[in-house]
Amino acid sequence: MLRRLSPVQPDSFAFTPDNLAWAHAQMTKFPEGRQASAIIPILWRAQEQEGWLSRPALEYVATMLGLPFMRALEVATFYFMFQLQPVGRIANIQICGTTSCMICGSEDLIAVCREMIAPQAHQLSADGNFSWEEVECLGACTNAPMAQIGKDYYEDLTPEKLRQLIAAMAAGQVPLPGPQNGRYSSEPLGGATTLIDTHDPVQPYNGSVQLAVDIGDTLKRIDGAEVPLLTPWLSAKDTPEGDTTEEPQPAAGAPVDETGTTKQQAQAGSAGRPVSAREPAGAVRGDADPGKA
Ligand code: FES
Repeated sequence: MLRRLSPVQPDSFAFTPDNLAWAHAQMTKFPEGRQASAIIPILWRAQEQEGWLSRPALEYVATMLGLPFMRALEVATFYFMFQLQPVGRIANIQICGTTSCMICGSEDLIAVCREMIAPQAHQLSADGNFSWEEVECLGACTNAPMAQIGKDYYEDLTPEKLRQLIAAMAAGQVPLPGPQNGRYSSEPLGGATTLIDTHDPVQPYNGSVQLAVDIGDTLKRIDGAEVPLLTPWLSAKDTPEGDTTEEPQPAAGAPVDETGTTKQQAQAGSAGRPVSAREPAGAVRGDADPGKA
């Protein structure tokens, strides 16, 4: 599929002050001169702020990282997670259409999107509030069919449930993400039959739904103020030399089992090496007769 920039572009892009601080902090994760390695998280942040990546946003990020515009364009056009067209003001609804979800009814969900939002994927609804697209497996197959809407998953969907979600969002509400059929997480519908002592009845929601409730940014375009900016790697630089109390220590070559395998590396002559015609089983690389190669 060809991925091109939208013919309709805004005049400019700028990070909010909090997002700018976040982006600068990401750049400090990399050695001097390698700040371009931060391009994916920073492009993602730009997309989280605006909903999609415009040409001005790509130019802004490229300039920030000291890259030619073309390098940023290459990244943005390669990864499908980057939206190159404007998305709905309220939400871009990403329906998973892969095997589990397809078997469980994702095509019916797509039909709802065609009817309520726009006939084609990546088209804006008439009021500009919604857009939709079909995406590949989002890793919630046990809760199929499902959709990612904003930053959260809405799972165990039915066409009727999706209609209600879109209507609620259009009315300014943020429906509770997670399973929409009463499940806590991905246990059987009739209740968990194993690991039943791990369910904490004090928590009304599973971990990810609880986070969505606590942070409250499911549909919101983020401005960077949602969670504190943490940069522990920067404060670690200030640790007095020799004080490694907080630093994880390497295994120092200590064998962890009778094979002599350490936490750092497997032995070159490990019996677990695959057998090949070019290298007899058990031979250590470098011992093999080069004449047989
Ligand atoms: S197939 Fe839809 S989440 Fe995996």
